[in-house]
Amino acid sequence: MAIVYVDHKPYQMNPDENLLHGCLSQDLRLPYFCWHPALGSVGACRQCAVKQFKDEHDERGKIVMSCLTPAQEGTRISIDDPEVAAFRAGIIEGLMLNHPHDCAVCDEGGECHLQDMTVMTGHDYRRYEFDKRTFRNQNLGPLVNQEMNRCIQCYRCVRYYRDYAGGEDLNAFAMRNTVFFGRHEDGVLENEFSGNLVEICPTGVFTDKTLKRHYARKWDQQFAPSVCVHCALGCNIDSGERYGTLRRVVSRYNHEVNGYFLCDRGRFGYEFVNSDRRLHQPVFKGQPTSVALAQHHLNESAASGRVIGIGSPRASLEANFALRTLVGPERFHSGMADDEARLVGRMLDILRQGSMRTPTLREIEECDAVFILGEDITNVAPRMALAVRQSVRQQPMEIANELKIPLWMDHGVRDAMQNATGPLYIATPYATRLDKTATATFRAAPDDLARLGFAVAHALDSRAPSLEDSPLAAEIASALKAAKKPLVISGTSCGSEQVIQAAANVAMAAHAALSFTAPECNTFGATLMGGSSLTAAFQAIRDGQADTVIILENDLYRRAPASEVDSFLKTAKHVIVLDHLANPTTEKAELLLPAATFAESDGTFVSSEGRAQRFFQVFVPGNDVRASWRWLKPDHWHNLDDVLGAMAAALPQLAAVRYAAPSASFRFAGAKIPRSPHRESGRTAMLVNIDVSEPKPPDDPDSPLSFSMEGTPKKPPAALIPFFWSPGWNSIQAINTYQKEIGGPLRGGDAGVRMFEPAAVNGQGYFSDIPPAFAPREGEWLLVPMYHIFGSDELSLSAPGIAELAAKPHVALNSSHLAEGAEVEVTCAGTTLRLPVRLRSDLPYGVACLPAGLTPVAGMTLPAWGKISRTI
Ligand code: SF4
Ligand code: SF4
Ligand code: FES
Repeated sequence: MAIVYVDHKPYQMNPDENLLHGCLSQDLRLPYFCWHPALGSVGACRQCAVKQFKDEHDERGKIVMSCLTPAQEGTRISIDDPEVAAFRAGIIEGLMLNHPHDCAVCDEGGECHLQDMTVMTGHDYRRYEFDKRTFRNQNLGPLVNQEMNRCIQCYRCVRYYRDYAGGEDLNAFAMRNTVFFGRHEDGVLENEFSGNLVEICPTGVFTDKTLKRHYARKWDQQFAPSVCVHCALGCNIDSGERYGTLRRVVSRYNHEVNGYFLCDRGRFGYEFVNSDRRLHQPVFKGQPTSVALAQHHLNESAASGRVIGIGSPRASLEANFALRTLVGPERFHSGMADDEARLVGRMLDILRQGSMRTPTLREIEECDAVFILGEDITNVAPRMALAVRQSVRQQPMEIANELKIPLWMDHGVRDAMQNATGPLYIATPYATRLDKTATATFRAAPDDLARLGFAVAHALDSRAPSLEDSPLAAEIASALKAAKKPLVISGTSCGSEQVIQAAANVAMAAHAALSFTAPECNTFGATLMGGSSLTAAFQAIRDGQADTVIILENDLYRRAPASEVDSFLKTAKHVIVLDHLANPTTEKAELLLPAATFAESDGTFVSSEGRAQRFFQVFVPGNDVRASWRWLKPDHWHNLDDVLGAMAAALPQLAAVRYAAPSASFRFAGAKIPRSPHRESGRTAMLVNIDVSEPKPPDDPDSPLSFSMEGTPKKPPAALIPFFWSPGWNSIQAINTYQKEIGGPLRGGDAGVRMFEPAAVNGQGYFSDIPPAFAPREGEWLLVPMYHIFGSDELSLSAPGIAELAAKPHVALNSSHLAEGAEVEVTCAGTTLRLPVRLRSDLPYGVACLPAGLTPVAGMTLPAWGKISRTI
């Protein structure tokens, strides 16, 4: 560490960073706009000025930008010097000349970095008396709102959108002193990470359009730490509620997982919680019933001993375990489609027995050569794609190192690198959004992708089996070999075990990290818990071993062909379903129990990194909705800790889950942790329209969080941070004050506990199940799934903004005999669908794609051979 003197006091600062970074890490108050820990320095706003002195005898000093000055040993600066303080006040006055001063009606008001910095600078009087520059705002789609008059030209938005996230349709358009930040014309922002503009923009230009529909100020909401439910990456979120409706989701910083950013599905998919299709009341034989009667029917059915349970990879570990306990381990089924369960089981075996480490998302950003085999990660595991976009900068950054340009000096590094990117190889059945960044791409059917993987492994290590050599395989192998931190990414998307095995071979041969994607938020957790297959569940009812089925948060029509599910549900004498939203399976329930979503319940998911993470309810629903584990639990479990204790005792592989967050008895300075931000004026009388005596807030027996603003003002452990706030820091950038060092881990460590690490000794040899080369069939197509960030996930499809952007059912193929939009019949395994054609020249001959997860494709087992014919 370097000693830097700030206003004559010595501070330890990281010499590889700049002075602004160092001052903020020391909790010193220094305003800034254009700098962001994830984006680095460009010196655009001049707000972070400090006075630098040559030595202790220098009394004049000179004004420098702290974000552009290294924190070198012995540096002497002043923040409080009157001249530089006046300089900063002048800068903000200039930035504010055209600002509308409309905080009272601005969605950012009360959590605005511009407000915070204005107060910090001491600028409090407006002298400018002339007309202000005004803009026409653009309609940027259903997710992000624009109000350009509030812009202070810090350029963060375009730097984030274009340089960091790889977007192309947002830019700065300038004429004389007028600069407009937007698209060339109205239209939906194309980048999958556009929602982060809401947090990146330091003022109210870009705000959350979904929040606008049910707006509430930050101080009027209550928040809870939570985990995104829309894919398996487990991004950390804070959810905000008021009056029993979920109002928004913001990013909850986790250094190892999502950092500062979320994808748009994760940020805006939350509105399914408020959907019209929510189930609010128990229903028995088509009639609403009471909680007591519903519970009685459930207990009676369970006591019959002729019951099976079907769990779910989108339900918490606690809910799955409660069902497993209720029906008995031998009658518990994991609820995944058979093929998927087999593939995820294989991936878990590889990660637990092999010596390849599954990296965190932060570690992925630091990898310097990446090989993606069979996965369209932008649409399957979106936040991982953002991490890979950063990883391709690692190798070219050596140029900056050689030129001795500090890596935080963003404009210098980018000038030196130009648009150079490091090795990224993508082998998938269809073109992906990352292709433009790739060194080379390879389009092929899953079998040929697997063969490429086997060939790459062989090129790296001749002991790894392969049936062919190829120049591309040799090129990929040499890039991985030359890398310091190589990475292989694969997953279940191709439905091919051989693709997974080939990826494992490459990672083994290259001594690379290995990351597997998975489709749902608790796919890995459900697999760790175990359970029989879905086919075994169908069989148990068909054979009469059981006559009752309890289905947990699982629409079976998305797991198996409709005819099989129909026959299963018809044969079962009693069908009991717990879920959040009405769906085809809930329609068949004799007893329907309304299950709490992530916003109304507590539980744990295991991410595809193998990280167990706890989510907490943000409000108590004012109806019959209950956490699934509460419906299913035995009488002697009273709270979440009881469930976790029982689970640890029964399933040693899940024992560490208890440590994902502090238990309900945890207290900070003898107090609970408040879900609501503190208000000098006291708690809002929320129910004054009903009763002038404000009722006591509900108790929370399951967590150390309180449903009120009362509690300790101290900063809680990472797993329990409901919102980021510090005195003087009301915006999301209060995160700075929770980190050990800016941009680094949270104080006390980041949230979550890893459930598995690589074996010390590789317990696996190379896989050798190499498939034959793909052979197109006359008159048939190999149907493979195609993933969509908006559409493939079941729950977010019920959020209006996501639904508006979602892909529509279609079949994508490469054919000169069919026209775009022509209607065809797709026949596969006894199912016939009528779908419009989308022509895609990127698809290999003989391969057609169906949109994964969209009705009526959901439930089909893909890949599979099918026929495609014109409708008459
Ligand atoms: S729109 Fe926001 S982020 Fe972009 S330049 Fe203006 S103030 Fe900065
Ligand atoms: S990447 Fe996945 S977990 Fe992260 S925000 Fe997006 S959908 Fe949620
Ligand atoms: S933050 Fe340093 S110039 Fe903008």
